[in-house]
Amino acid sequence: MISEKMQNALNDQVNAEFHSAHLYLAMSSYLESIDLPGFAHWMRIQYQEEVSHAEKIFDYVIERDGRAVLQSFQAPPVEWNSVLDAFGAAYQHEQKVTGLINNLVDMALSEKDHAAHIFLQWFVNEQVEEEASVKAVVQQLKLLGDSKGGLFQIDRELGRRVFTPAVATE
Ligand code: FEO
Repeated sequence: MISEKMQNALNDQVNAEFHSAHLYLAMSSYLESIDLPGFAHWMRIQYQEEVSHAEKIFDYVIERDGRAVLQSFQAPPVEWNSVLDAFGAAYQHEQKVTGLINNLVDMALSEKDHAAHIFLQWFVNEQVEEEASVKAVVQQLKLLGDSKGGLFQIDRELGRRVFTPAVATE
């Protein structure tokens, strides 16, 4: 059975993952509002990924005979200044989430919870990918400058992103 301390920390992370989901869904809405459907689609997929992250932790708490408890969610922002501003904020957000995952790993070690430690390795790897994928878009946008043609091209590329649920990548 999982310790109460570890259980509560994982429940907090479920909340943080749902917050990430809402943030990216809000960004998707903003990107639709500035007529960038491909970027909006990319963020919508990101939203789905975050929900699957939350569910993966939720299910794990239950599997360890703990109690998964939902919390209230902080409302995300509504507006950003540009597509680059939104993706830059997403990149910063992912770096924050990486810190949260690292704190959980530290706690699993200090609690001598080897099962949680192994479980969390998936998230450690996932955060490397999460940061890299958002940063790649930020870099592309920075290289573009004011090129409308380039923006249209990237929008088409990002519109092809496909959702891969967390459970299927174990
Ligand atoms: Fe669930 Fe984007 O990290």
